[in-house]
Order: sequence, then C-alpha cells, then structure tokens
Amino acid sequence: MSLTTEWIGNYIGIRHKLDGEGGSRGPPHVNDAGSPKNETEVGMTEGVERKEQGAGKAGLERAVSDHYGGEALAERILGALEEMGVSPDRVRPADLVPVEELHIGGREATEYLVEKLKLEPSHHLLDVGCGIGGTARHVVERYGCRVTGLDLTPGFVRTAHLLTRVVGFHRKAVFHVGSALSLPYEEAAFDAAVSVHVAMNIRDRGRLYREMGRVLRAGAPVGLFDVTTTGREGLNYPVPWAETPATSHLITPQEMVERLEAAGFEIEETEDRTAFAIDFFRRMFEQAPESPPPLGSHLVMEEGRRKLGNVLAALEQGAIVPFLVVARRR
Ligand SMILES: C[S@@+](CC[C@H](N)C(=O)[O-])C[C@H]1O[C@@H](n2cnc3c(N)ncnc32)[C@H](O)[C@@H]1O
Repeated sequence: MSLTTEWIGNYIGIRHKLDGEGGSRGPPHVNDAGSPKNETEVGMTEGVERKEQGAGKAGLERAVSDHYGGEALAERILGALEEMGVSPDRVRPADLVPVEELHIGGREATEYLVEKLKLEPSHHLLDVGCGIGGTARHVVERYGCRVTGLDLTPGFVRTAHLLTRVVGFHRKAVFHVGSALSLPYEEAAFDAAVSVHVAMNIRDRGRLYREMGRVLRAGAPVGLFDVTTTGREGLNYPVPWAETPATSHLITPQEMVERLEAAGFEIEETEDRTAFAIDFFRRMFEQAPESPPPLGSHLVMEEGRRKLGNVLAALEQGAIVPFLVVARRR
C-alpha cells in the first residue's frame, strides 16, 4: 500500500468513526456566521440542493459537474507528489500550486484578485465555485482568515477537503457541495466573497449575483474573475470549462457589470486582463516540457493542450476577454 492510500484510508476511517458518533451527512447547518455548527460537520458536506431548482438548472448543473468530474483526484495528486518524493505527511501548501489553480493566470491571478479585497484575519470569505480549494488555501496562508468554499462537483469538494487536511488548514477552511444559485448560507453571513472562472457555466447570472449579495454583509467586497465574450467569432470548443457551447454561458463585460449593479452591487474596479492572459499562455506553452511532470494540470483536465490552445487562440482573435471585477454590496 502506498503512503497516499494509507494516509487517505486512515483519514477517511477517522471521519467514518466521527460520523457514526453523531456527525451530520446531510445539508450543512449553518449558524449566523455561515459556519457549520459543530466539529463533525467541518469538512465536506453533500446534498445541498434546494427543491425550487427547475429541470433546466438541474440538467445544466449535472452536465457541468460531470464535465469536471474529479474522481479519486486527491489520490492522484498525492500519488504524484509521492512520486516526486513528497510523502502525504510532508506536503506543504506551496507543493500544491502547480495543480490547484483552475483558471487563467494560475496563482499569480489569484494573488492579484484576492489582494484587492483587503482581507483581515477576522474575516470570513466565501469562495463560490471553489474547485479543489487553491484560492481558499492561499487565503488561509496569506491572510489568516476563515474560508468557506462551495462547489457543484463532489469530486472537487472531496479533493479540496482532503488537500486542506493534508496541509493542516482544515480548521480555517471548509468545503461544501452545493449550487451557487441556491447558496446554503444565512443572510449576511460573510465579510467578503470571491468567484473565479465559475460564472461561465452559469446561465442565470442575475440569480448568481443576487445569491452572493444575499449572503454578504452590507459593504462587503466581492472579487470576480471570469471569461467574458466580445461577441466576435473565434472561440472553438472544447475549452477548459466546457466541451461544447451547451454548457458555456459567456456574457460581455458590460452585461456582467449591469447584472451586478442590478443585483445590488456597486462596481469599484474593472479590468480587461487579455494582455496578462496571452502572456501567461505563451510563457506556459514555451516552457512546457516534452512530457509533463507527475504533478500538473493534466491530473485535473483531459486534453489540456487542446483546450488551452483554443483559449489562447480566442484571446488572440479578440473573441474573449478575461474580465476582473471588484464590487461592493450596497
Ligand atoms: C474552472 S473551475 C474553477 C475552480 C476554482 N474557482 C479555481 O479557480 O481554481 C470552475 C468550477 O466552478 C464550479 N461550478 C460551475 N457551476 C457551478 C454552480 N452553479 N455552482 C457551484 N459551482 C459551480 C465547477 O464545479 C468547477 O469546480
């Protein structure tokens, strides 16, 4: 048995014991600070859907979650690290950076966006569409605040939870399975929110931004970084967020700003990050080794070269714009 299998086996064994002693496996019960109520609820929580979702929304969400998958991803990531000589009990947050940032610009883009939120250790941040928890762990390490991550894809949430446990940040960062369109949190539960490369899979932007506004306290900042469309031709599929246009719902930067304002946000800053993105991809392709190292984005994304190549081509043709928005809840 590899160390990774042993570590995960031991850890999951402990969780089962806790669950058997009264832990909840249902929807998270959140208090007015947006936190799970007791220790056994800390971590992954499944089944957070609300009844009012329509068939269209449910169908889209199922397709999006299937697209991302993430089966046994924690095992594969920890296995790759082990292959590189890092055993599961020695993993440091920095070791995970090559695989945990599922968006244009990687860690550099995360740091750039999060910095704008002026987070403090007392803050509680919500990461909507948290993926495997890269942003959450960065925020815990850099700002010391609490983070709750929510994502549609159970395999990603499980991975976020296990990797966070591996680096010892599990008391600061928790992750729930759920929909950004039905956030399972109380009104005004969070001091700030972030969402990176998630909205491209969401048709009902008004509802997304209203939900984010509902769970933020008045005056709280939100940082968004999403791929938007210019309306020009030149985006070919597959791309990292969708195999076909059926699950890709891009809007223009102007529409993004208007939907946010209509949902009760005041826009503080916007930025077209096309030049940064093109530079990032060119560097990435130039420096790509012949065969990938054990740990890399290929663990999370199939056909990565083709998908990222399609994104770079669309950027170069001016068909898409990676757009950053910082807004404040009124
Ligand atoms: C490209 S990944 C980005 C993940 C993460 N934000 C990051 O930058 O590393 C998009 C994520 O959005 C999640 N997602 C898409 N639609 C969602 C929805 N309606 N509710 C919650 N999560 C969603 C997917 O499951 C996926 O993990």
